[in-house]
Amino acid sequence: MRDPQRVQEVLHGMLKAGLDTIQVISDFDMTLTRFAHNGKRCPTSHNILDNSQLISDECKIKLKDLLNKYYPIEIDSSRTVEEKLPLMVEWWTKAHELLVQQKIRKDQLALAVQESDAMLRDGYQWFFDCLHQHSVPLLIFSAGLGDVLEEVIRQAAVFHPNVKVFSNYMDFDETGVMTAFKGQLIHIYNKREGALLQTGHFQELRARPNVVLLGDSLGDLTMADGVQEVENVLKIGFLNDKVDERKQSYLNSYDIVLLQDETMEVPNAILDFLV
Ligand code: C5P
Ligand code: MG
Repeated sequence: MRDPQRVQEVLHGMLKAGLDTIQVISDFDMTLTRFAHNGKRCPTSHNILDNSQLISDECKIKLKDLLNKYYPIEIDSSRTVEEKLPLMVEWWTKAHELLVQQKIRKDQLALAVQESDAMLRDGYQWFFDCLHQHSVPLLIFSAGLGDVLEEVIRQAAVFHPNVKVFSNYMDFDETGVMTAFKGQLIHIYNKREGALLQTGHFQELRARPNVVLLGDSLGDLTMADGVQEVENVLKIGFLNDKVDERKQSYLNSYDIVLLQDETMEVPNAILDFLV
């Protein structure tokens, strides 16, 4: 923590304001899901699809090449956001174009998730169940694939009614074959725009001025920008990769930084304090 006193003040402020003023806004990939397990990388919602049987071998190679080219740029702390932004848009655009060509069937997504190595962080069940039990809304705000991430939480039996998802969703034709992506692309650096756009859809969320925000990228810091008259935002950041190089910048922007922590222990302890 850069400023433990501030964290204490925010937590006490939230406790005093009461549970019905609190919401949780969380990123999905590498925030709610594990970054690694037994030394092996875990997939993002994109990777679940990229590695599945729904994608041809030829397309898999192209998607892997994109990942190998653009992921190092995503986590490169020597480049500015301004430099990275057009390259990230390029990555998402190229990957989504390839996915659209694959004639992905909606009814096969569940199997792709089932057969994948996707894992929610240890302690996820307590996290989701606690929020549900106390009627605290959870907004999952993801630049990943909405259809896939919904299936991950559905299969983990934690897609409770208090969970709302804002993400990139696929459009399917009447035979259930994917033909496009719906709406405006969400990538890692336009979550602010998305948050502002969504305000009409999430009226209930707008009115909860105390936010616990969870993310793993510096782009996740603006996810709460659509909330009206914010009182407190407690920002918890998971730093998964390139820890030494990025630690200082994460400490400067997140209130709490968790270093290569594959669990929900800290967010859960905070919720336990608040409920
Ligand atoms: O859910 P979240 O907003 O974290 O999703 C974004 C993540 O998806 C990025 O951190 C990026 O590494 C990953 N990604 C991917 N394949 C793509 C585009 C993004 O794995 N084609
Ligand atoms: Mg993420």
